[in-house]
Amino acid sequence: MIVVNHLQPTTMVPLPILVLTLLPLIIHPSYADSTQGFTPVPLGSSNFVVQKPYNVSVDKRYSFTNGVHKFWVYSTDKPHQPSSNTEPRTEIRVVGYDYTSGIWQFEGHAGTSGVCIMQVFGGSSWSTTSQLRVYGGSLAHYTTTIEPNIYNRWFKVNVIHDANANTVKVYINDGLKFNGAGRGKGTHYFKFGVYKQDGASNYMESRWRDIKIFRK
Ligand SMILES: *[C@@H]1O[C@H](CO)[C@@H](O)[C@H](O)[C@H]1NC(C)=O
Repeated sequence: MIVVNHLQPTTMVPLPILVLTLLPLIIHPSYADSTQGFTPVPLGSSNFVVQKPYNVSVDKRYSFTNGVHKFWVYSTDKPHQPSSNTEPRTEIRVVGYDYTSGIWQFEGHAGTSGVCIMQVFGGSSWSTTSQLRVYGGSLAHYTTTIEPNIYNRWFKVNVIHDANANTVKVYINDGLKFNGAGRGKGTHYFKFGVYKQDGASNYMESRWRDIKIFRK
């Protein structure tokens, strides 16, 4: 009997390629590259505007050392502007990339002990379309818990906002944790830092590094 084996060389996948392809799946079963198909936009310090209680200087509530943005705020602090009656915050408001349409993605690595740490600003009847909040050590999308035990560790955050379809996806450490509706049309932009919410402790802090913004 003659075994015709001429197909084998072309259908065989070289081992190194196979290993490299399967490795992420083996290490992390729910691995997903949320940035696939997206293009990063240029980001520099001129795109980062720090908002902090209006009666203290920036260095009393924010530092940037070794690539880490550290934000802190006290529950008794003033709002970011004398005319504002919002809660105290120390946040970076991303400027230069406000949008009303398209698909946008925020990425960063965060560590935190409190409150609202990331926002997609702008909505039709709400001021925001997405908020990541911390309640009792768990991370929530608004009030829906998406990841437990987030104190004292770094976690990767990817938020995809499709402003055309009005949808929001949140990935924590590359796992999809929230997939739902946004809060309508508006002028949108990203913010990260600390923003006081109900039930906040006196001192609130978050740290962020490797901030990236992508669009599709
Ligand atoms: C800023 O305002 C806070 C809250 O009202 C107050 O406790 C603090 O003393 C003020 N700080 C300065 C430097 O005026």
